Amino acid sequence: MEISGSRVLLTGASGGLGAAIARDLSRRGADLVLTARRRELLDALAAETRGRVVVADLAVRADVEALIEESRGVDVLVLNAGVGADVGIRSETAEHVDTTIDVNLRAPIVMAVAFAQHKLSVGELGQIVLVGSLSGLAATPDTRMYNATKFGLRGFAHSLRQDLDGSGIGLTLVSPGFIRDAGMFAEGGIDLPPGVRTKSPADVAAGVVRAIESNPAEVFVSPVELRLAATLATVAPAFSAAVQKRAGTAQMKSGS
Ligand SMILES: NC(=O)c1ccc[n+]([C@@H]2O[C@H](COP(=O)([O-])OP(=O)(O)OC[C@H]3O[C@@H](n4cnc5c(N)ncnc54)[C@H](OP(=O)(O)O)[C@@H]3O)[C@@H](O)[C@H]2O)c1
Repeated sequence: MEISGSRVLLTGASGGLGAAIARDLSRRGADLVLTARRRELLDALAAETRGRVVVADLAVRADVEALIEESRGVDVLVLNAGVGADVGIRSETAEHVDTTIDVNLRAPIVMAVAFAQHKLSVGELGQIVLVGSLSGLAATPDTRMYNATKFGLRGFAHSLRQDLDGSGIGLTLVSPGFIRDAGMFAEGGIDLPPGVRTKSPADVAAGVVRAIESNPAEVFVSPVELRLAATLATVAPAFSAAVQKRAGTAQMKSGS
């Protein structure tokens, strides 16, 4: 789909990657609806990108319904919002489990389904972009809910894409690895083991642009070696866990 002149609804617009995606799409002539919970950040970004702000909490079902109504007026849905911070197993709670599932999995699923159903019923073209993660392929210590939701999102994306084949509604999963400078990884203050390479928020935005313009099944925004390691983890998770243990991933995550 051509970006110039398209109408795009972007979730997680107040975040590190969302802001980069919004700026890139705006530069290319998209008309943006920016959504998240933090109004001040959204207002500042909207002033810069000529976007419109809709404040919504993806853990609140009425807010998700309101966003579904908003999505009827757009051509492209970029479902980028996510929560990353997991807790040690002794501190896990049902509330945290519910919130992570609501924001990372339920909201993008119901929004994508409703958008597809609407486009099918009115016979319009559309593009869905889901922002997943390499954590949708490889599990790491102390990220159980993030892994659970990103694995789930990846399965959903590749299935719905097949359901929509030939309908004029495209769907792409954008799967970033570690992103520097802004966003949940950069703000987490985690030091990577030597030699592990990162990508930038602008690279993620370029991945979203490619998704909208070319509708590939999946866009990996990561160095090739990280993508290969994550792909290997899908068929050999115990081997992946052993390699991570040797590399000190668990100590890295606990900050010790
Ligand atoms: N950064 C990375 O290295 C990396 C790597 C792989 C994948 N990803 C994925 O990229 C996406 C964007 O992440 P990011 O790095 O930009 O993270 P971020 O800076 O923490 O931004 C997260 C965004 O999600 C929104 N959000 C969180 N909870 C919400 C809720 N209950 N309701 C509505 N919006 C909510 C936040 O907005 P409010 O707080 O204002 O509501 C914010 O806009 C996520 O899906 C993440 O999993 C990131």
